[in-house]
Amino acid sequence: MKAFVDPDLCIGCTQCAGLCPEVFTMEGTLAVALLGEIPAEAVPQAVDAAQACPVSAIQIEA
Ligand code: F3S
Repeated sequence: MKAFVDPDLCIGCTQCAGLCPEVFTMEGTLAVALLGEIPAEAVPQAVDAAQACPVSAIQIEA
């Protein structure tokens, strides 16, 4: 699975980086997702982060 953050939607609330720092980091005011596959052990937290994003900026794709 891979994660993507839409920079046009992200408002920099930082919830994703707090919930799943293995995958999401803040670069300036916006979040960026890890390039490549999400580590298996981090998938649940990555999904939680996507669901927690208040503007639905995160997509998780198989
Ligand atoms: Fe941005 Fe949503 Fe994360 S607003 S900082 S992608 S929780």
